Amino acid sequence: MHRIVFLGPPGAGKGTQAAALARELGIPHLSTGDLLRGAVAARTPLGLAADDHMRAGRLVPDDLVLRILEERLARPDAKAGFLLDGFPRNLAQADALGRVTPLDAVVSFDVDSEEIVRRLSARRVCPQCQSVYNLSSRPPQAAGRCDKDGASLIQRSDDRPEAVATRLAVYAEQTAPLLQFYRDRGLLRPVDARGNPDDVARRVRTLVR
Ligand code: AP5
Repeated sequence: MHRIVFLGPPGAGKGTQAAALARELGIPHLSTGDLLRGAVAARTPLGLAADDHMRAGRLVPDDLVLRILEERLARPDAKAGFLLDGFPRNLAQADALGRVTPLDAVVSFDVDSEEIVRRLSARRVCPQCQSVYNLSSRPPQAAGRCDKDGASLIQRSDDRPEAVATRLAVYAEQTAPLLQFYRDRGLLRPVDARGNPDDVARRVRTLVR
């Protein structure tokens, strides 16, 4: 069974790697960031409550995130495994997750903050299909357009420099303690997430097979 968590700072490449690995393993890729952005776009009560926190780069309150995550984990496709991307993000969430399901591996992505800032400032996303590009490492075929549906690419509001600085501080303060939490439980599998995405993908696969 593959019950995997991807842990790491913003822009470390978790989403890029998670999408491909989940497809290969036939398990759902559960990104709380994507679920929350979907709720914001649909203007649901949860999305409206989450929006300001996300724009500023702060964590969304635990009760809101736990609600969407538990609903999503309860769906039938998550019964045979899942890849959690961006959850848990603090000790309270890790405790809550532990009450819902055991885990098989926690892959932690190691990248320095200069590289993170470089990656996030160059990230562009498709507002229609959510495909993720990078002006340096993964440019679209036609400048500014999504390869899949031709929509105009945008920059995420939390990829502005002020929000990135907040996200890095929040990671250091609230999420980084989870490294020790999972090391203590024998689940932590660190991966060097620098260098080209295909090399990172190969390293990740040696840790979860
Ligand atoms: P979320 O969407 O989870 O953002 P994040 O964790 O900050 O992660 P990112 O999506 O920014 O980065 P990533 O590691 O997935 O990198 P990517 O693959 O895109 O969360 C957003 C917000 O939602 C949070 O700030 C918070 O407000 C809220 N939230 C979410 N979960 C929550 C929770 N559990 N509790 C409370 N609040 C929560 O790669 C980045 C860029 O680099 C891309 O352009 C990509 O193409 C490029 N790239 C990827 N790999 C490489 C490589 N190896 N070399 C060069 N470029 C690369």
